[in-house]
Amino acid sequence: MILVTGGAGFIGSNFVHDWLAQSDEGVVNLDALTYAGNLANLVSLKGDARHVFVQGDIADSALVEGLMSTYRPRAVIHFAAESHVDRSIHGPAAFIRTNIEGTFCLLQAARAHWSGLGEAERKAFRFHHVSTDEVYGSLGPGDAPFAEDHPYAPNSPYSASKAASDHLVRAWHHTYGLPVVTTNCSNNYGPWHFPEKLIPLLIVNALAGKPLPIYGDGLNVRDWLYVRDHCSAIRTVLARGRVGEVYNVGGWNEKTNLDIVHEVCDLLDDLRPDPAGPRRRLIHFVKDRPGHDRRYAIDARKIERELGWRPAETFTSGLRKTVEWFLEHGEWVVDVQSGAYRDWITAQYGGPGGGE
Ligand code: NAD
Ligand code: DAU
Repeated sequence: MILVTGGAGFIGSNFVHDWLAQSDEGVVNLDALTYAGNLANLVSLKGDARHVFVQGDIADSALVEGLMSTYRPRAVIHFAAESHVDRSIHGPAAFIRTNIEGTFCLLQAARAHWSGLGEAERKAFRFHHVSTDEVYGSLGPGDAPFAEDHPYAPNSPYSASKAASDHLVRAWHHTYGLPVVTTNCSNNYGPWHFPEKLIPLLIVNALAGKPLPIYGDGLNVRDWLYVRDHCSAIRTVLARGRVGEVYNVGGWNEKTNLDIVHEVCDLLDDLRPDPAGPRRRLIHFVKDRPGHDRRYAIDARKIERELGWRPAETFTSGLRKTVEWFLEHGEWVVDVQSGAYRDWITAQYGGPGGGE
């Protein structure tokens, strides 16, 4: 079996579906079900004996050690994290606890489990740490994209906590020999994306005729990767990545936030026209994010050169799949827009609809 952490979240749930569509190897899915974790993402796996869901905290050592000895996973794929930059600005404590202490706890349990394996199993074991391009900080307009040897310069409580977790993973390899691999990925988008993040927020607000909040001047740049491409990159690195190595994963899709909101509006106008007029009318510039990184870009040549991985989707094809998924899953959207979600939108944007 493999042990997946955070498999009820956005990327983790996509990964669990992707994994079980390719393989009969079982998945133990450990997730605390914070506001970002949602069992509705996994509903189609109900009754599937290959998927074991365990609700719990990665920082609970007794629980994690128990799972290692019960299921004896041959790999850990570590997604669980507090993942939203804006929430880390409002309340960093949970980020320190889950992203740093939680990763520490998981590494310790994985090390104890791995140390007790026979030689062949020890060699085959992997701890795959899923991290972010945000650890590298912000690029200027003409700077080269982030390669794996780019210096770390995290700027938000979120990225600082992820950087700390990357360093722990690296140290557990160098000091104890734990067979780790790390992937640092750019912005994902796709099915089951929680609508506090840019693309799903734009889709659900645009469909509801609500304002589309764009921070600052809208010219911050991100690289965008369709989530199923991220899943295939993780499978590739897990299978063939060199132990102790870092692989940067990106979509070769640098876009400003204004590009994104324009494409989302135009696609929705095409797929589901709004009698009130083009959705671009809903674009609304709001106060900038404190310390907002200007540009991220990924140099994904190492994973292509060494492992032959490239994204399958363009931004146009991936965005169409994403928008179509949201159009077909209105119930899921209503379900995640719970009371707690509405409280966040009011605190962050100053009004129940994401407006003023
Ligand atoms: P997410 O917030 O959607 O999901 C995180 C999941 O982790 C949730 O299901 C949550 O319940 C669970 N979780 C949180 N704290 C936990 C704890 N203490 N114990 C157990 N489970 C806990 O996040 P995501 O967007 O799916 O990101 C997954 C991983 O990928 C994160 O490590 C993130 O840093 C990284 N990443 C995300 C992106 C992106 O664009 N979303 C890009 C690069 C890297
Ligand atoms: O780069 C990878 C990272 O991408 C991951 O590590 C994070 O877990 C993930 O949340 C994401 O972080 P970002 O901060 O880039 O994503 P977010 O969707 O929050 O914002 C994307 C861009 O859009 C960013 O420049 C801020 C801007 N934005 C965001 C929101 C929510 C807006 O302009 N308006 C908004 O309402």
